[in-house]
Amino acid sequence: MYCDLFLVAVNLLVFLAEYLYGFQKDKDVSSQLHIYGYKALAGEKFIMQCASPYHSHLFNLSESLEKSITWLRYDGVGVLPIDSESIVQQGNFLKFTNVEEKHAGDYLCYSGKERLHFRLDVIPRNGTGCKDHGDSQVTFITGKGGRISCPGVSCYTSPPEVVTWYKGDRSAKDLLLVGRDLKITGTVLLLKTVYLSDKAVFTCDFNYTDGITWTVRRLVEVAVVAEERELLPQILYPYKNCIEEAELGKPKILTCKVQFAFQREFKPVIKWLISYHNGSEEELEMDYCHEDHKSFGEKTITQTARLQQVNIRHLAASFTCFAQNSRGNVTSTLRLTRRPEALQRLEVIIAPVVVLILVTGASVVVQLYRMEIFLLCRAYLPFQVSTAELASNNPPIVFLISPRPYPTTSSINHPYAGFWFILRN
Ligand SMILES: *[C@@H]1O[C@H](CO)[C@@H](O)[C@H](O)[C@H]1NC(C)=O
Ligand SMILES: *[C@@H]1O[C@H](CO)[C@@H](O)[C@H](O)[C@H]1NC(C)=O
Ligand SMILES: *[C@@H]1O[C@H](CO)[C@@H](O)[C@H](O)[C@H]1NC(C)=O
Ligand SMILES: *[C@@H]1O[C@H](CO)[C@@H](O)[C@H](O)[C@H]1NC(C)=O
Ligand SMILES: *[C@@H]1O[C@H](CO)[C@@H](O)[C@H](O)[C@H]1NC(C)=O
Repeated sequence: MYCDLFLVAVNLLVFLAEYLYGFQKDKDVSSQLHIYGYKALAGEKFIMQCASPYHSHLFNLSESLEKSITWLRYDGVGVLPIDSESIVQQGNFLKFTNVEEKHAGDYLCYSGKERLHFRLDVIPRNGTGCKDHGDSQVTFITGKGGRISCPGVSCYTSPPEVVTWYKGDRSAKDLLLVGRDLKITGTVLLLKTVYLSDKAVFTCDFNYTDGITWTVRRLVEVAVVAEERELLPQILYPYKNCIEEAELGKPKILTCKVQFAFQREFKPVIKWLISYHNGSEEELEMDYCHEDHKSFGEKTITQTARLQQVNIRHLAASFTCFAQNSRGNVTSTLRLTRRPEALQRLEVIIAPVVVLILVTGASVVVQLYRMEIFLLCRAYLPFQVSTAELASNNPPIVFLISPRPYPTTSSINHPYAGFWFILRN
């Protein structure tokens, strides 16, 4: 408790000293301490640089800056270190891997030259009346055009007319100057031709005034694929004519893993079918579907189906994974085989033997350590045995529990570490 107070006091002193020092310095250069406001959307990536938000460079990855800049959080009482779990300091900026409402608040940064004050407001995803927060991921095809709309602008009562765009660290205006064929119309950035090198994080900033001028910032991750490939899905598992083991009467999960190439109109279908020996085919009940991995617009999807109880008919049947996209369909077939008899018989023999050994072992241990077990039970039983009761029964043994070795010759080293017993008789 006192330590906490002490820490708060120290923080306050440090903050005051730095504030006064900074203020003095500011007065020297006759400028005022300005607060830059940022608005971020919960659940998104976000960056905040130790510089004015209006530079032509969004950030600087220089390692020397990373070493010379100190970031602190100011919570109205004192300065705190930055939550390092989801905030990473890199170059001259803080990178929020997933900005959350708890990150809202005041931040201070000190570089050798500057001392800046930021206020971060984190907008919750829901409960604000805003239905469309926009896309923070888009995929383009090389050689074609690309259009990125600054996400979430419609959520503001006075939508911005001007948006500042950055690709990586450089402003779109800078890129225009070096001859990049792009166009900014309102809140939209148009890339006339998309190159593979456009795989980058684009950032859009706009001003929003309410009391102070906020910079509303959103990051858009752009993926670029070589072309929209008219490819069939590819079944990664099961491979053709695969055989899996199953046990009669036990449940069995069938897994199908399919890779789909990028398509703008993406409507994948994956299902498991069972073909019985008599020629009839049925669709299995699907268990769960999981999107594993996404890169360059490619997606790997895992679809499982569950057989509640494997029966003889399942062993005679074949199972087909069917995958389809707009280009067509592919299938792969799997059969079930009963687990080898020998293995099952071995289990039938081994299991009782193992149980017998365990039981025998346990009873030997109980025999050997009967006394200790008795004492331990006494020590840990919830009720108290009064000393008077113990005295009247004239117990042969007194025990004590000590974390350190008891320094008498009559002590016996007990196998349970930290417990020492003294025999009285
Ligand atoms: C980034 O910071 C380094 C070190 O301060 C500086 O030399 C470099 O010019 C900066 N880069 C840009 C693009 O401002
Ligand atoms: C708001 O979103 C959070 C997660 O982002 C969710 O846990 C919560 O249930 C949502 N609340 C409403 C009212 O939808
Ligand atoms: C936002 O406001 C700042 C300061 O008033 C100004 O310098 C900047 O150009 C504005 N940005 C936009 C996109 O209007
Ligand atoms: C084939 O066998 C399955 C499973 O035993 C059964 O459900 C189905 O009705 C049979 N179909 C025909 C045409 O006999
Ligand atoms: C799967 O593709 C084949 C041609 O490869 C087609 O004949 C069949 O109708 C397709 N199946 C479904 C269910 O779309």
